[in-house]
Amino acid sequence: MKRKITKAVFPVAGMGSRFLPATKASPKEMMPIVDKPLIQYAVEEAVAAGITDLIFITGRNKRAIEDHFDKAYEVESELSARGKRDLLAAVQDIVPKSVSCIYIRQAEPLGLGHAVLCAQPVVNEEPFVVILADDLIAADRPVVGQMTAVFEKEGCSVLGVEEVPREQTRQYGIVRPEPATGNVRRVSAIVEKPSPETAPSNLAVVGRYVLTPRIFHHLQRVRAGAGGEIQLTDAIAALLAEETVLAYPFIGTRYDCGSKLGYLQATIAFGRRHAEIGAAFEDYLKRLKL
Ligand code: G1P
Repeated sequence: MKRKITKAVFPVAGMGSRFLPATKASPKEMMPIVDKPLIQYAVEEAVAAGITDLIFITGRNKRAIEDHFDKAYEVESELSARGKRDLLAAVQDIVPKSVSCIYIRQAEPLGLGHAVLCAQPVVNEEPFVVILADDLIAADRPVVGQMTAVFEKEGCSVLGVEEVPREQTRQYGIVRPEPATGNVRRVSAIVEKPSPETAPSNLAVVGRYVLTPRIFHHLQRVRAGAGGEIQLTDAIAALLAEETVLAYPFIGTRYDCGSKLGYLQATIAFGRRHAEIGAAFEDYLKRLKL
């Protein structure tokens, strides 16, 4: 198996019901944090890690994502006619020319595991990463790059994890790490959305995965699990029986932009350090006594 990862899967078919009515006619992944949509942060993180094939698993009402990563002739000619060079660069350079965008439609919302399985014809027998754009992570070194570096060294699946309060285990895939020194630990069990009483730990998988292609074998076989959906977590649980899977506590701050509170927190954090308005925004927050 090759050690250089070049493919990233972005499951973006979800309905975004927690943000209705904002997501009634436009995808939740297009919601902006200051001036960039969530999906663009996720794509930039992948591209920074050397990923060259971006595979989007889309669904109904998601055309805006395809348009976002495509050339926008009218906008570009308008901006260039008006001499707006910075804005022109901002819309032209969303992905480098060497990067390919591939779109696969997931016809039915059968779950995250099913969405990842839809990528199999393009990923084939290669290791790959999965990025959930809802989990926005601010980090000096982009988290996908941190994790592909672990993969290059260890050659096995790597899950991005962080500690969460016990009472929140029901929102996540939760791992049981093997006792070991060092912070990258082998996973001995993983459960989707356990209750706080039954959770094997409080180490949650957040939206970053490096997976070996063997995962597809298990995704084809797992039955519907939590919430009646085909769960990626259940396929990882089956993978564990035959391959090493590592839990990697990434270095960075995660914002759960799938929730309103996390979305607002991300907006404040990214607003504060924004090149154009950061200083003025900080000033405003000070006046609010935050
Ligand atoms: C999904 C996964 C879950 C993971 C979470 C991270 O859940 O099923 O295992 O911990 O993403 O954000 P969802 O947030 O789609 O319910």
